[in-house]
Amino acid sequence: MHRAVLRDAQPGDYAAITALLTGAGLPVDDLSPDDVRWFVVAQADAGEAAGCTIVGAGAVQPIGENGLLRSVVVAPALRSGGLGARLVRALETRAGAAGLAALYLLTGDAQAFFRTLGYQTIDRGEAPEAMRASAQFASICPSSATCMVRTLADAARYPERISADVVEAQRDLEKEKRS
Ligand SMILES: CC(C)(COP(=O)(O)OP(=O)(O)OC[C@H]1O[C@@H](n2cnc3c(N)ncnc32)[C@H](O)[C@@H]1OP(=O)(O)O)[C@@H](O)C(=O)NCCC(=O)NCCS
Repeated sequence: MHRAVLRDAQPGDYAAITALLTGAGLPVDDLSPDDVRWFVVAQADAGEAAGCTIVGAGAVQPIGENGLLRSVVVAPALRSGGLGARLVRALETRAGAAGLAALYLLTGDAQAFFRTLGYQTIDRGEAPEAMRASAQFASICPSSATCMVRTLADAARYPERISADVVEAQRDLEKEKRS
């Protein structure tokens, strides 16, 4: 199977994104169609009449000078293949380019995943006040959720890696179409 291609989400992706999130037990109550602008999606082109399939998603919700990294999800059948990491790196690249200083997140059981990507656990109370006032912090995520943070000072070194990923994925797609 070829690798998924990452791209900015479009308004028409909203239903597929929320279906993936709901299937993984992640909250969608505070998301509206307008919020797709925060999302990057992973698209697997089936190359068939069924058309394109969204197999992963993730978002950075800007809050003040920082971002809330949220709604990171990969379709169950494609997990453990590095797609989650690619999505997070792509989101960091976008957030860094937008001038955000750091990304905060809350997670129930994916601390190990985020730790390998350079995120550090902090007390929820250490997050900036504006972050703590967000719906995810204030009411949606349980108090047992772990708060993690990563500064984006080194995000500038990721674009090359992301574009190399995309080039590789496109090459795979072309190869598949020819065969
Ligand atoms: C978390 C998630 C996005 C990771 O996507 P992925 O494509 O599997 O991630 P990668 O392949 O890049 O990395 C996988 C590695 O991360 C770690 N990891 C991933 N999910 C983990 C979890 N829930 N708990 C502990 N470690 C996890 C493991 O070390 C795993 O390596 P392994 O497969 O060799 O054990 C995916 O598991 C998922 O959709 N989970 C449900 C939604 C969720 O919890 N999202 C995070 C909250 S925002």
